Amino acid sequence: MQDQHAWSGRFSEPVSELVKKYTASVNFDQRLAEFDIQGSLAHANMLNKTGVLSTDDLNAIQRGMAEIQAEIRSGQFNWSVDLEDVHMNIEQRLTSKIGDAGKRLHTGRSRNDQVATDIRLWLRAQIDSIVLLLAQLQNSLLNLASKHADTVMPGFTHLQVAQPVTFGHHLLAYVEMLARDSERMQDCRKRVNRLPLGSAALAGTTFPIDRHYTAQLLGFDDICHNSLDAVSDRDFAIEFSAAGSLVMVHLSRLSEELILWMSPRIGFIDIADRFCTGSSIMPQKKNPDVPELVRGKSGRVIGHLVSLITLMKAQPLAYNKDNQEDKEPLFDTVDTLIDTLRIYSEMIQGITVKPAAMRAAVLQGFATATDLADYLVKKGVPFRDSHEIVARAVRYAEQQSIDIADLPLTKLSEFSSLIEEDVFAVLTPEGSLSQRDHAGGTAPNQVRLQIAKHLTRLKG
Ligand code: ARG
Repeated sequence: MQDQHAWSGRFSEPVSELVKKYTASVNFDQRLAEFDIQGSLAHANMLNKTGVLSTDDLNAIQRGMAEIQAEIRSGQFNWSVDLEDVHMNIEQRLTSKIGDAGKRLHTGRSRNDQVATDIRLWLRAQIDSIVLLLAQLQNSLLNLASKHADTVMPGFTHLQVAQPVTFGHHLLAYVEMLARDSERMQDCRKRVNRLPLGSAALAGTTFPIDRHYTAQLLGFDDICHNSLDAVSDRDFAIEFSAAGSLVMVHLSRLSEELILWMSPRIGFIDIADRFCTGSSIMPQKKNPDVPELVRGKSGRVIGHLVSLITLMKAQPLAYNKDNQEDKEPLFDTVDTLIDTLRIYSEMIQGITVKPAAMRAAVLQGFATATDLADYLVKKGVPFRDSHEIVARAVRYAEQQSIDIADLPLTKLSEFSSLIEEDVFAVLTPEGSLSQRDHAGGTAPNQVRLQIAKHLTRLKG
């Protein structure tokens, strides 16, 4: 049988092959099939409840859709580009199976509210997966952090050694970022989880419908309250992409650090071989491919955000075909996020930490200079003066190629007579860390406290 367009009665000639290919979305939107069926079944149920659709028709639709679902799942469904998109492919197949009941399914509905519903159902499920994966990654980071609550490493500003921190504290910074990412995803979900169906093409429908019933059947928290807005805006997808871009930006920052830390020049960590590759020419190479790709893929996710927001910006109300372009960026954003989060959790578990290299780097960078300045302030020296005193001590130590902690007390007291034997307790990295014992500080105590809080949050 020749596929016939639902609107063929209006047209005097079929579209050209080129136009058909250009306008069809079935090659990518077939991914929405399960959600399209779910939405159709809820719509049919609602129409039956309000007396628009007979129970016989409803039963036939349910039976036909069950068969179609099985065909799709087993890969036997014959997708046709002549039928443009997932919606018309499924509807046509339904009609070929059950006749007129299939043709009645589209009563009080349009593809405009249908596709908006499908995307929301699909995205809601993806957000739930992403939130779980974000929790897994946080757990991996917390697990590593708990082993390194006391491990000293240099904290950097401007990529110059600044002050000692613990490796655990450093990792917790990323846990904080990912926790906010998860909050953003869950917050975005609230606005995704609203029902467009019932808006029909743009103005609503003349049939008696019960949108709250459909919303309830589909697990939506609410309905979209304006039919024009419901079929046309994709702000929820843009918002999701922005949240997704931030996830990727956070992981890109961590990737950059992993790459630096793994460089033999720094050597703070090693990444398990299964996440790295060698070089085809240089036998000594072990390259951190996975973090490099994450850093690279952050670019494409940010690109999708720009695509989606640009797609929306000049569209008049209500639905325009432009919106068909929302799918590929959104799908690729989700795929990239899910793959990245999965691989990242595993990669974090495969990290070997080299505390000796981290400690050596702290000792080379005058990382406790601020601690010496603070020490003098506590003895009554104004901070600006103590800063100057310590700067001179650092300059001297640098000329001698030693750390300030290694200067003898006789030498140190030449810079200030207030410097006494007890200074060495603050000049060691451990002394520096333990003094920053306040909420949000890097003292091992605080790090352990934060880890416990995060673990409780993730269990809750
Ligand atoms: N494939 C279309 C999309 O993704 C479905 C809606 C088509 N609506 C229309 N009036 N042409 O947006």
